[in-house]
Amino acid sequence: MAAKKYDVKDFRLAQNGRKRIVWAGQDMPVLRRVKERFHKEQPFRGMHFSACLHVTAETANLVQTLKVGGAHVVLCASNPLSTQDDVAASLVRHDRIPTYAIKGEDHKTYYRHLRAALDHKPVITMDDGAALVSLLHTDYSHLASNLVASMEETTTGVIRLRALERDGALKIPVIAVNDAATKHLFDNRYGTGQSTIDGVIRATDMLIAGKRVVVAGYGWCGKGVASRARGMGAKVIVTEVEPVRALEAAMDGLEVMTMREAARVGDLFITLTGDMHVIAKEHLKAMKDGAVICNSGHFDIEIDLKALKQLSTRVDKNVRNSVDAYVLPGGKRIYLIGEGRLVNLAAAEGHPASVMDMSFATQALASEWAVKNRKKLTPKVYEVPKAVEDWVAKLKLGSMGIRIDTLSAEQQKYLSSWAHGT
Ligand code: ADE
Repeated sequence: MAAKKYDVKDFRLAQNGRKRIVWAGQDMPVLRRVKERFHKEQPFRGMHFSACLHVTAETANLVQTLKVGGAHVVLCASNPLSTQDDVAASLVRHDRIPTYAIKGEDHKTYYRHLRAALDHKPVITMDDGAALVSLLHTDYSHLASNLVASMEETTTGVIRLRALERDGALKIPVIAVNDAATKHLFDNRYGTGQSTIDGVIRATDMLIAGKRVVVAGYGWCGKGVASRARGMGAKVIVTEVEPVRALEAAMDGLEVMTMREAARVGDLFITLTGDMHVIAKEHLKAMKDGAVICNSGHFDIEIDLKALKQLSTRVDKNVRNSVDAYVLPGGKRIYLIGEGRLVNLAAAEGHPASVMDMSFATQALASEWAVKNRKKLTPKVYEVPKAVEDWVAKLKLGSMGIRIDTLSAEQQKYLSSWAHGT
């Protein structure tokens, strides 16, 4: 039997998906400009792209942009719980973009979808967490030599790619899109900041004001969540392992303590560290009755879910949508949102379009840069060129009606001189 050319939940959802894609697109002016130019210039004419991203209305606007630029794009989900089924249906039905993504897909289906994306024999891949790159280094390594480059969207993915590079095992050129200023300074901070709190509120309807919100990890994502929670009146506690970041949190006016201390007092716990078992058995044991726990880091490893299950005498599934109650001996309840997966995508809609506009314009332009420079690229981790970041930032400012000053000739001369004015 021939393999299916797509795998989505239900085509009856497609019409709604289209509306959501159009709605998101209205708030993506920079990507729209890229799309208009790609339409004229066809930078990807006939090239095969495989994207493994969260299948959302914003991602739909990205893959449409690549397709308009001449690419044959296949899309699969980068997380089993983040797919917007209506968007996936619309991409297949209205855009003829083969999409493999079903919200809640099991492990086997998730991997089948990844394989389907690579069976497309891409020359450019896009990852949000290095899933395709991992396969390109194992079962699909025969495709590696044909690859122009792979784009990486998230911090966790970039960490893995740099580990591969350090071990001398990296087989393909990769571009650390996450590390572009126009990505992480906005998407990670303001996108994760808002959408994580959005996920918590949609799932629990809890009042944030007055709560003790424990934010594990004070990278760009943690900073974003902490500042939004504080803005809503929470007493924010930060846990960290890096002294400089911990100091930053302290001087930002937040309480800093160990997770052991925080576990006893927190009402809501949000992990954003990229590492495993940040909330471990001893912390779960110490938590108050009614504590709410969730994760907004890339993988569902930050909370020790096995320990949570072991500690519980009973699990009441779906006490609200996306919320499971774990009942411990003595009746203490711990509420887990979104099965410990990315709470902003599992329980809400991910980052708003306006911020994904910058991330995905950066993605699209980084791909174009890779294609233009394909002859020069070797297996290593590349930064996004500064010119791309500047262009995206300028356009975003323009779309917000913001003008900025420019250096005068005198000022330029001053900045480039070492002797002047000393
Ligand atoms: N990552 C976080 N939010 C996202 C969104 N809305 N679309 C795609 N990827 C995302």
